[in-house]
Amino acid sequence: MDKIVVEGGVPLRGSVRVSGAKNAALPAIAAALLAEGDHVVRNVPDLADVRTMGRLLAHMGCAVERSADRHTQHVRVPSTVKAEAPYELVKTMRASVVVLGPLLARWGRARVSLPGGCAIGARPIDQHLKGLAALGAEIRLEHGYVEAQVPRGRLRGTTFTFDGQTVTGTENVMMAAALAEGRTILRNCAREPEVTDLAAALRRMGARIEGAGQDEIRVEGVERLRPLDHAVIPDRIEAGTFLLAGALPGCDVTVTGCTPPELEALVEKLRAAGAEVGEVPGGLRVRGPARPRPTDVRTAPHPGFPTDMQAQMMVLLCLADGSSRITETVFENRFMHVQELLRLGADITVEGKTAVVRGVPALSGAPVMASDLRASAALVLAGLAARGTTEVLRVYHLDRGYERIEEKLEPLGARISRVRA
Ligand code: EPZ
Repeated sequence: MDKIVVEGGVPLRGSVRVSGAKNAALPAIAAALLAEGDHVVRNVPDLADVRTMGRLLAHMGCAVERSADRHTQHVRVPSTVKAEAPYELVKTMRASVVVLGPLLARWGRARVSLPGGCAIGARPIDQHLKGLAALGAEIRLEHGYVEAQVPRGRLRGTTFTFDGQTVTGTENVMMAAALAEGRTILRNCAREPEVTDLAAALRRMGARIEGAGQDEIRVEGVERLRPLDHAVIPDRIEAGTFLLAGALPGCDVTVTGCTPPELEALVEKLRAAGAEVGEVPGGLRVRGPARPRPTDVRTAPHPGFPTDMQAQMMVLLCLADGSSRITETVFENRFMHVQELLRLGADITVEGKTAVVRGVPALSGAPVMASDLRASAALVLAGLAARGTTEVLRVYHLDRGYERIEEKLEPLGARISRVRA
C-alpha cells in the first residue's frame, strides 16, 4: 500500500491542468447501457473509480476498452446484457448504483447490490427507488440487493418530486425517464454541473431533456437511443482542490482547464479569506495571503458551497488569524479529517454539524490517516502548509478521485512523493 510523503513549507508557484470530472464520467459510462452498440466517452480521468465502472459493465457482458492515453473509454454494449451489479463491485464504489436506471429502462429488469454504509454518512438510495417506482418499476429489497423489474415491459412517464436533492438520484431517474413512454417531470432536482453534463450526453444519444441544472427537469421519452460519443466536463472539485493549494500562504497558482462559473461559491469564500482570485485565459489564478482571514462556510447543494470542498477549505481556515465556523449540511458524518488535522497542530472543535476552527500560526508535519476521498486531499494540502514531514496513509482513498496528484503538485514546487508504506 502506498503513502504520500510531503515536506511542507514550500510556497507553490505555477500552473496545473485539471482532468475530466469523475462524477460526470461515471454516470456517462453507465448511460451506455441505454443503447446497444459502440459508445465513446472522452476526457475520462484515469482513476480507480472509473476502472471499477468499467469492470461493472464488463461483468454485464459489455466490451470495455481504454485508449492508450487512458482518457478515452470505449464501451461496446451487446444485444443482451446480464442486468446485475454484484456486491463485490458495488461495495468498492457506491456510485455503481447509477446503472440501475439505465438497466431498468433499457432491459426491463435489474439486480443491483445495495451500496451499504459509507464513512461520510448513511447515504440511503430511497429517493432513487421512489423515483424509479413512480416510473412504473416494481422494486423489492432482498438479500442486500435491489431486485427490480418493469412488469409492463416499458417504464411510463410521470411527475415526481424528490424529497431532498440527490445528485445520483436525479441522474438515475433522468436516465430511466429518457426511454420511458411519454413525458416525465422531475422536481426538486439536483442542479450540479455533472447532472447538466449527463443531460447533454443523453441528448447526444437522442434523448429529449430540458431543464437540467435547474430545479425542474422535463423529459420526453423516446423509443430508443443511439450510441454515445461525449467528452465529459472538467473536474470542478479537483480544480477547487488546486485553488485551495494556491490560496495557502505565499502561494501563486493558476488552474487551467476548469470552468470558473462552476466554482463561484468557492471563489467567493477564498476571497473572503483574503486570497486574490482572478480569471485568466483558460482558467483561474489564485494568490494566497500572508495569513488567511477567518470566514464562515456552510455547505449546500449546487450552486451552494460544495460539500466535496469542505475538508480542503478547513485546512486554509486552520491557518487563519481568528475563528471560523464550518457547517456541513449535506452529509451527517463528514468531519473525519478533524482528528487528523488536530494531529498536525490545528485547533478545531466539532459541535454537531458545525466545526469551530480557531486559526493557528502554523501546522507541524506528522503521520496522518485518510478516511475518505476528500479528507485525503485535505491532508495532502495540510502537509504542503505544515512545517516538516507529513505522511498521508491509506492513499487508495485519494486515487479514487485524483489522477496522480503528486505528479500534478510537484511541478508547482511541492516536495511530495508516493512511497510504499
Ligand atoms: C454525489 O453523491 C457525489 N458522487 C458525491 O461526491 C457528492 O459528495 C454528493 O453528490 C453531494 O454533492 C457522485 O456524483 C458519484 P446525494 P450522491 O445523493 O449522489 C441524501 C466525491 O467526493 N440522500 O446528492 O451519493 C444523502 O444521504 C463524492 O466525489 C437520501 O437521503 O449524493 C445525502 O445526505 C463523495 N436519499 C444527501 O441526500 C437518497 O436516495 C445528498 O446525497 C439519496 C440521497
